[in-house]
Amino acid sequence: MKREVTTPLRAAIVGCGRIGANTAERLRETLPPVWFPYSHLDALREVVGVELVAVCDQNEAAGRMAADTYGASRCYVDGLRMIDEVRPDILLIATRTEGRARLIEHAAEKGVGGVHFEKPLAHSVMECRHALAAAEVAGVKLSYGAVRRCMDVPRRVKKGIDAEEMGMLRQIVIECGRVELLWSHPHHFDLITFFVGLSDVEAIQARMTFETAAWSERVLDADPIVEALSIQFRGRLSATILPTGSGVVRLICERGEYVIGGNTSWLAVREYGTGIRVSGEREVSVPFTMSGRRRALMELASAVRGEGATSYSAADILRSNQLGLAGAWSAVNQGRMVRLDEVPDDFTVTGRKGDLFA
Ligand SMILES: NC(=O)c1ccc[n+]([C@@H]2O[C@H](COP(=O)([O-])OP(=O)(O)OC[C@H]3O[C@@H](n4cnc5c(N)ncnc54)[C@H](O)[C@@H]3O)[C@@H](O)[C@H]2O)c1
Repeated sequence: MKREVTTPLRAAIVGCGRIGANTAERLRETLPPVWFPYSHLDALREVVGVELVAVCDQNEAAGRMAADTYGASRCYVDGLRMIDEVRPDILLIATRTEGRARLIEHAAEKGVGGVHFEKPLAHSVMECRHALAAAEVAGVKLSYGAVRRCMDVPRRVKKGIDAEEMGMLRQIVIECGRVELLWSHPHHFDLITFFVGLSDVEAIQARMTFETAAWSERVLDADPIVEALSIQFRGRLSATILPTGSGVVRLICERGEYVIGGNTSWLAVREYGTGIRVSGEREVSVPFTMSGRRRALMELASAVRGEGATSYSAADILRSNQLGLAGAWSAVNQGRMVRLDEVPDDFTVTGRKGDLFA
């Protein structure tokens, strides 16, 4: 059903930490301009026709500060209660992973129209399935914190791949340094899913570093460092994550490759000649239109009004979470190749790093 555009949508947020409301100074200095506005609330300010009505943080002071800064009239410490009382059209979830799936389920039960939630969705495939099923049954529009697919450069590349500009996509190589599975890699699994779609996964194989004592039966009580991970899709297509480099994504097609660099801020193309000849790298200009977060929230608002779709389906979000959990299942099983359907639904990666959780 189409809503009147003149009636602002009412938004609320749970989690007023760094990604919710307070972009870290370090990121302001180091991230390229294409990432801004970066936090949920900075981006929401730039979405026309949406009004922030309530904020929630279990740390009351953090909630109050966000309410004052962003002009929300109501402030809560309990997210479920906020949903019950405020019944927002749009809910933003920027808590740590624990409890995120439950918030989505509750929002679905209470008629919230759209949810933008941080990555990863949950610690296990089972939790992901429950939250996504509840959202689907209730018709909740979904938007996911892995926002690179909403950024200009990946969207330009996706168009080129879909049009087979340089032939069929054969391999994705992501060089991102030695980083944690739940904290950093959800972005990469989502990008892989964006480019490859939901084609069949034949096998995943990964090596990860974690304390041996962190693994018992079905629970990996850690946020393991990914040393190497590869995914074999049906039809000679594969994706590889390497612990080298610092954030370059190469999409290798039959006749050349796209290189996304500078933290998703620039694009270059290399065309293969015949034999061993390869053309030099040619930069492709991609005009900046808006940050990924802002586009994700704009699309969500339009979808809630019945005027379009978000860039994320429930199946995409499930798949990208499954890829990470299957990688972890391979790693705890001595790095053997695994299929998605053999990963136990209740296999859990807690994301612990010392006293903190992803
Ligand atoms: N999309 C991105 O680029 C990106 C970047 C950084 C972090 N993240 C993700 O965002 C999440 C939050 O990261 P952060 O760095 O902002 O963490 P943070 O610790 O700075 O903020 C989390 C906030 O949520 C609050 N909170 C936690 N559970 C709550 C609950 N049940 N009810 C109410 N408030 C609750 C905490 O008090 C805290 O203020 C993490 O899961 C992380 O993976 C995403």
